Amino acid sequence: MDANQYTSEYLTSSADYVDWLEEIIGSINDGILVIDKQGVVRLINDEYTKITSVRKKDIIGRYLRDVRKGAMLTETLKDGKRRSGIYRKEGTTEYVVDMAPVYRQGEIVGAVSVCKSLTEVHYLTKELKQSREMIAKLENTFGHIYQARYTFDDIIGNEAGLRAPVNIARKATQSNLNILIQGESGTGKELLAHAIHHGSSRVNFPFVPVNCTAIPSSLLESELFGYEEGSFTNSKKGGKIGLFELAHNGTIFLDEIGELPMDLQAKLLRVLQDGRIRKIGSIREQEVDVRLICATNKNLGTMVGKQRFREDLYYRLNGVQILIPPLRERKSDLTDLINKFLPGGSTSQHWNLNEEVLDAFSRYNWPGNVRELYNALNYAVNMTDNDSIELHHLPETIRRQSTVPKASDSEKTLKEILQTTEQEIIIETVKSFGNTLHGKKQAAKKLGISLATLYNKLNQSTVSNK
Ligand SMILES: Nc1ncnc2c1ncn2[C@@H]1O[C@H](COP(=O)(O)OP(=O)(O)O)[C@@H](O)[C@H]1O
Ligand SMILES: [Mg+2]
Repeated sequence: MDANQYTSEYLTSSADYVDWLEEIIGSINDGILVIDKQGVVRLINDEYTKITSVRKKDIIGRYLRDVRKGAMLTETLKDGKRRSGIYRKEGTTEYVVDMAPVYRQGEIVGAVSVCKSLTEVHYLTKELKQSREMIAKLENTFGHIYQARYTFDDIIGNEAGLRAPVNIARKATQSNLNILIQGESGTGKELLAHAIHHGSSRVNFPFVPVNCTAIPSSLLESELFGYEEGSFTNSKKGGKIGLFELAHNGTIFLDEIGELPMDLQAKLLRVLQDGRIRKIGSIREQEVDVRLICATNKNLGTMVGKQRFREDLYYRLNGVQILIPPLRERKSDLTDLINKFLPGGSTSQHWNLNEEVLDAFSRYNWPGNVRELYNALNYAVNMTDNDSIELHHLPETIRRQSTVPKASDSEKTLKEILQTTEQEIIIETVKSFGNTLHGKKQAAKKLGISLATLYNKLNQSTVSNK
C-alpha cells in the first residue's frame, strides 16, 4: 500500500470490506443485483426486493437462471457487453434494467444489474399529461375570450350614414398605426375596434378589450403591465401577466382612454415609444408587439388644451382618427339598424312597426345612440303581445319626445310635469347605459349632473312612485 495513504482502523479484514460494500449498495436508491462468474447471486439490496418482490433468502447463493427465468444478466457474463434500458414488468411494477460486466485483471468475474422503477416516472408522466390537458383547455378558453367577436359585416351604415368612418377603419386594418375612435357612448366604437382587429393581419392573435374606467385606477397599472411575485402584499404566487403581454402580436383596445390617470398616461407613452413593458416589481423589460386602438367619448383635443391629457400621448394614439357621428346625425341608418335588431331580422317579414313608431324614432334625439335603439326595440318587443309594435309599446322617453305633453291635458301643475319629466328622462338615460354604477356614472355625465344628484333624483322617483 502507498505509504502516503491512511489505513483504516475499521476495514482490516476482507469480511469488513464485504459488510462495508453491502452497506453502500444498501444505501443506493436503485435496485442492485450482483452475480459472480458462475452466475450465482451474491448481493442484492432492499430496493431490488421492493421492485421485484424477491427476498434475499430466496435468491442469495442460488443460480440467477434458476430463480429468475429469462434473466439476461448471465448473457453479460458470456459476452461482456453492457446493456441498458431493458424493460421489465413484475406484477404491476414496471422497471428498466441496466447491466454491466465486472472485470478483474482483464477477466470477467461477475455482473451487476441496476433496476430503476418506473412507478415514479409513470406518476410524473400522468401529472404531465394532466397539466398538458389543463393548458390546452386554458388556451382554448383564453383564445375564445380574447377573440374579436364582430366583423365589418356586422356594422350597419349607409352612404349618408356610417359608411365614411367605416371606410377609414377598413383602410386602417392594412396598417399598424394606432387608432383613436371618438364618438358618444353607444355609437359603436367597441364594435368598430373588434372589426378592425378582425380585418387585420393580427386576427389569429388576441384582441384584448380594457375599459379604463371599469378597473380602479390603483389596480390599472398591474392589470395593464402585470407584476412579479412578491412585489406587494397580497400579490399572487407566480406574479401576474399584464393585459399588454396577453395581447402580444394582437390588439389591445383601451376604451374610455380619456379617463386614464396622468401617471399611467406617462407609463403608456413609454410603452408605446419603446415597444417594451416592465412588470411592477421587475427590473427586466420585455418586448411586446401590440397594436393599440383607443376609444373615448371625450374630446381629447380639448382635454389636451386643459392639460388633462398629455399632448405627446395624444399624438401617439392618434395615428388614424375615426369620428363616429351620433345616431341623431345619421338617422338614415335607422331603418337598417331596426331591421338588424328586431328578432328574426326583417321588419317586413316578422314585425309590423306602425307609422307613428317610425316617426317617433326619427324625431327622437337618441342620447344613448345605437345602444339605446337596441334597448328600445327590445323593450317594445317585450311589451307587445303580437308582432305589431305601436307607440304605446315604446319606452316613455321616446314617446314623450314625439308627443310633447300639453299642460292643459293634465291635472298636474307645471312644476309637477317638469319634475316627472325630469325623473323619466333620468330613468331612461340610466336604462340606456345599463343599471350599474358605471352606467349611472355615464348617465350622470351625459345629463350634466353629478352622480350624487342623479341618485337623489332616482330616490325621489322611487319615493313618489310608492
Ligand atoms: N353601426 C352599427 N351596426 C350594428 N350594431 C351597432 C352599430 N353601432 C352600434 N351597434 C351596437 O350597439 C351596441 C353599442 O355599441 P358599442 O360598440 O358598445 O358602443 P360604444 O363602444 O361606442 O359605447 C352594441 O350592441 C353594438 O353591437
Ligand atoms: Mg363602449
